[in-house]
Amino acid sequence: MITNLGPDTTGLHALYGRSLLTTHDWSTDDLDALLAAASRLEALDRAGIRVDVLRGELAYAMFFDNSTRTKSAWAGAAARLGMHPVIVDGSSTQVSHGETAEETGAMLGMNAHALGVRHDLILGEGNAFMRDVQRGIDGYLAATDDARVVPIVNLQCDIDHPTQSLADLLWLREHFGGSVAGRRITVSWAYSPSYAKPLSVPQGVVSLLARFGAHVTLAHPPGYELLAEPMAWAAEGAAASGGSFRVTHDMDEAFAGAEAVYPKSWGPQVLMGERVAANRAGDREAMHDIEQRALAQNAQHREWICDERRMALTADALYLHCLPADIGAEVSPGVMERFRVAVAREANKKVYVVMALLAAAKVPNLTAVLNGGV
Ligand code: CP
Repeated sequence: MITNLGPDTTGLHALYGRSLLTTHDWSTDDLDALLAAASRLEALDRAGIRVDVLRGELAYAMFFDNSTRTKSAWAGAAARLGMHPVIVDGSSTQVSHGETAEETGAMLGMNAHALGVRHDLILGEGNAFMRDVQRGIDGYLAATDDARVVPIVNLQCDIDHPTQSLADLLWLREHFGGSVAGRRITVSWAYSPSYAKPLSVPQGVVSLLARFGAHVTLAHPPGYELLAEPMAWAAEGAAASGGSFRVTHDMDEAFAGAEAVYPKSWGPQVLMGERVAANRAGDREAMHDIEQRALAQNAQHREWICDERRMALTADALYLHCLPADIGAEVSPGVMERFRVAVAREANKKVYVVMALLAAAKVPNLTAVLNGGV
């Protein structure tokens, strides 16, 4: 019998049957219950206690972009729950051959028991695709009187990267002894020469942390504004939680006094928006041209790096990154080396967030399972 391995999990019943498409869709009580379950699952896993309550079920995930950590977290979570993880390249499906997202959802939902999707490169498309897929699955299940619960998990879209931001929140809570309320946390743009990265990580992180009472500063050069909707969520979340949210164009000022810093790159919003038409037209040359212009714009801000000088401006801040980081561009080699284990531990939280999402959506008596061990 395993008890008292983590915080209270009494809100879990509200998560049964739920998909996660943005953290904004969920109340803070829902998110607290989920994170409590994730902490409990981590403790059970570290104690070597199996929670394979979804034996024989299929955990299918489609990725329309590269991934190392999230694919591994999806597979690791599914395996720990006793599921069969299957991960496919989204471009190898019939989506590009005219199949609608609702059809895709119905076709995948008739076999799978959970569905993960990453669709993060095209502004205005990824989250909408996931919602259409969910409609397709739900419609199919209802029309065929199929009682299976097939939750959708957003594994990064154009708006949010919820399994990342929740893993970050779990890690920050552990670092700060249980809560981010009142903590000064900076999310900053940083220079990247490798590719024009999605906006969804900073959008997801600032909009989530502001809801839990953190004093969040967002820093970026002009031209790297984030989408209006998650910015409004961050402002509203801060007002409701007693935290705060502000934007600056000065990286030094954003680092001064910060207790945690999250410097990472993303692409210029206007150019990221130009991808929509080029992608719809299948115009690879235009996509390449947009990417080159984005990298040229990034290169005008090479001084936006998290280095030892900037870390010295902070209040001995914890460094976070969702990874992969461009070492020597987003972060100096010395800072990355100092926080190498910390960012790996941050990344490791995602497997427990995904486990909690799948288990909470699919196991009606999860509270009893977690309180009693298995
Ligand atoms: N942070 C993150 O999502 O990593 P991957 O892109 O490797 O999945």
